[in-house]
Amino acid sequence: MKTAVLGYGTVGKGVYEMLRSAKDLEQGPVLVRKGKADEPWKTDDFDAVLADDSLNAVAEAIGGIDPAFDYAMKTLKAGKHFVTANKALVAEKGSELQAAADESGAAFLFSAACGGGVPLLHNLALSQRGDGILKVSGILNGTTNYMLDRMQRFGTDYEAALKMAQEMGYAEADPSADVSGLDALRKVILAAGTAFGILPSGGLHEGIESFTAEDIRFYQSKGLVLRLIAQTERTAGGVSCFTEPVLFPDNAPEAAVLENNNLASYEGRCCGKISLMGQGAGRYPTASALIRDLESVLSGERRMFPEGLKQAEADHDSVKRRYLVRLPEEAKEQLPCDEVQGKEGAYLRILTGAIPVNRMHEAARKIREKGGRIAFAALEE
Ligand SMILES: NC(=O)c1ccc[n+]([C@@H]2O[C@H](COP(=O)([O-])OP(=O)(O)OC[C@H]3O[C@@H](n4cnc5c(N)ncnc54)[C@H](OP(=O)(O)O)[C@@H]3O)[C@@H](O)[C@H]2O)c1
Repeated sequence: MKTAVLGYGTVGKGVYEMLRSAKDLEQGPVLVRKGKADEPWKTDDFDAVLADDSLNAVAEAIGGIDPAFDYAMKTLKAGKHFVTANKALVAEKGSELQAAADESGAAFLFSAACGGGVPLLHNLALSQRGDGILKVSGILNGTTNYMLDRMQRFGTDYEAALKMAQEMGYAEADPSADVSGLDALRKVILAAGTAFGILPSGGLHEGIESFTAEDIRFYQSKGLVLRLIAQTERTAGGVSCFTEPVLFPDNAPEAAVLENNNLASYEGRCCGKISLMGQGAGRYPTASALIRDLESVLSGERRMFPEGLKQAEADHDSVKRRYLVRLPEEAKEQLPCDEVQGKEGAYLRILTGAIPVNRMHEAARKIREKGGRIAFAALEE
């Protein structure tokens, strides 16, 4: 199956290289930006790629929505298979792309977009056919896990941990999507679509920007380890979908996920909890997932989202958790306090009663709007 590669950056280079040695796959052209086609196998003309009848598939590694969405729609409408690593594209435009694929019969696969080399979406797609899936959760962002691990094991402060993540090539020059939890939210939206056939909108994301080395020391004194968790589950009102920091006992599996690794788990009605751990990003792990998708196309796979994919507002009323919160003393009344655990200057550390996820996120938003500083993490219980 001859495959064109869109984008020749970190992932695109890996895919092009791996296509050379893949068993039943053949290298097609690589699309680069206008004026940058400096090799005979590169092109800057997408329409020429599309018009090439010898090409059966396109692997997209440009990123973003524009022009990736236009290229994706044209590819699928032309009946060519489309595989992508682009989580922003699938989280935002997944329904339209799936509809175009359904109409032409082409394959639309995106396992590289969630978990990199970790085959989470493939397993969800398989498991949801044989068993109902109740919940998907995990550490889906390697950059923030690396930073939290540095802060936890080496006492590094937030700024230094971010700088190290950038030096290691894990964090981008603009790390905001990673540290704000948005990157992990996009991934878990894809997991929700694959597991439940619902692409949730209005997902909540809290990241790791608010935590200090002092917060981490406080958690450690209580035997707790901080991780950034993305989660989606079936609820009374539909499907929840959010990213937030969570505190685990130091003997929990999540606490043992070090460096930039991912740990993705799902719970089936009958199969119970299943976990997958490994490299969630990087050139070769991610390229290997795109190659895996192309091989799956050859064995007849056409979709990851189940038939009848819907879009719906996420439900955050039904999921309740207790939170350990550092907040200005004058903001204490905004949350139900079960216990004051400490006082540092004008700030308190409180443990809340069980409250809906959206109430916690909303309280944090209001406190920050008024210039207050707040850090919160759910307790894994
Ligand atoms: N890196 C990872 O570990 C990883 C893991 C999982 C998923 N992903 C996803 O994979 C995708 C690619 O990520 P990446 O890390 O490989 O990014 P990257 O290194 O920035 O590569 C993107 C490439 O696409 C090129 N490009 C941008 N616009 C283009 C256009 N209009 N036409 C042709 N080429 C264009 C860029 O060219 P210029 O250099 O000229 O701008 C660049 O070479 C993203 O959606 C990302 O979320 C990445």
